[in-house]
Amino acid sequence: MRFQTHRPASWQACIACGNEVVETDPRPRCAVCGGLLELHHRPPAMTPVELIERFTERRGGSPGATASGVWRFREIVLPSADAVVSHPEGNTPLLHRIALDHWAGVDHLLFKHEGHNPTGSFKDRGMTVGVTQAKRIGAAAVACASTGNTSASLAAYASQAGLPALVLVPVEGVTSGKLAQSLAYGAKTLLVRGDFDDCQRVVEEASSHLGVYLLNSINPFRIEGQKTIVLELLQQLAWESPDWIVLPAGNLGNTAAFGKALREARQWGLISRLPRLAAVQAAGAAPFALSFAEGFAQRHRVKAETVATAIRIGNPASYERAVESITETNGVVLSTTDAELLEAKAAIDASGVGCEPASAASLAGLRQLVRTGVVKPSDRVVAVLTGHILKDPDLLLRYHQEMDPPPPGANRPIEIEADIREIERVLQHKT
Ligand code: F0G
Repeated sequence: MRFQTHRPASWQACIACGNEVVETDPRPRCAVCGGLLELHHRPPAMTPVELIERFTERRGGSPGATASGVWRFREIVLPSADAVVSHPEGNTPLLHRIALDHWAGVDHLLFKHEGHNPTGSFKDRGMTVGVTQAKRIGAAAVACASTGNTSASLAAYASQAGLPALVLVPVEGVTSGKLAQSLAYGAKTLLVRGDFDDCQRVVEEASSHLGVYLLNSINPFRIEGQKTIVLELLQQLAWESPDWIVLPAGNLGNTAAFGKALREARQWGLISRLPRLAAVQAAGAAPFALSFAEGFAQRHRVKAETVATAIRIGNPASYERAVESITETNGVVLSTTDAELLEAKAAIDASGVGCEPASAASLAGLRQLVRTGVVKPSDRVVAVLTGHILKDPDLLLRYHQEMDPPPPGANRPIEIEADIREIERVLQHKT
């Protein structure tokens, strides 16, 4: 179907066949062809200047949804939402550390640190919108498959909304920090004997057969929320586009969201120039990088393996949307080995910024792009850090305490007797 005359404030459309459905349709995919759905909004009834003024007024406002770094942009996220389920979230910092400029080889590198969100990852931005939508359509329960962060976020927002939540995570590979969050926030947590791609397949089947609302990133409302990572960073840069935005890529929800945010920001006059996107995968889980290298001639699926469990994904769900994002922004897709990723993570951690392993793909990828001359040292770059350092404490402790021989950045703890002379000895390096 197509809306013929009067378009509502927002509606969903299939990215493959163009079929349009109302905003409140709960189905996760197009009912005609099974394609991914995308949300469309009527252009805001304001000039770009008025819109920017509205966003500025709300920044740092009183506690509640207005102060949210997602709902601040409600006119271009979900204009018709009224009762929103908000922590609030967003308002994450742009960080600069000279040591990391040097490490990457650029003059001025900013980190948009999404680990500063309430549950410690960018997923909260999509989840506030997704769970708000679940309430609007009267969902009885919500569900997702996850490598751990989506499930932690869904668990928190569902409990705030009073909705039962079902999360499916791979029995091997979800970090202790993330699993602990899902349990603590009260989600029914299923440890699936399989990998993330198995979890995704089975949760999609369950959502259509068992009538639970699917809140994986194929859900178009999640994408709307995740757009605000880009909108907020553009606002922090006074709506001056950087040259590059670099991000880790797994299931490709963020890559899809970033492209949509940039497309709309330009269309609605908020920015005049598109930054280039650089999506970075882990080498053992890089089907998107493989497709990019072939000019997106075909879609690849791989058996995924990487230390960065968050992006251990072999068959990314938002593939088609992400291809559009990379193509439209003249972007690039690359991959980085686990060794490079851990080296980048150690540099981020040692700078005091800290992040979870998958997040460090952005810095490792950026260094590669500088070394190959794709990014110039003078380019203005924003690298997105997607999750908090404490999401994966086990890997940190292995890296610093157990690996033999110790990696270059290892910081071994020293056990001592409760005696000041022992401390003195340590200070004098006589251990
Ligand atoms: N970084 C972190 C910390 C993540 O948790 C994820 C995805 C990504 C990057 C990749 O983002 O999927 O949009 O390309 N985590 C999902 C999850 C899959 O279930 O938590 P993407």
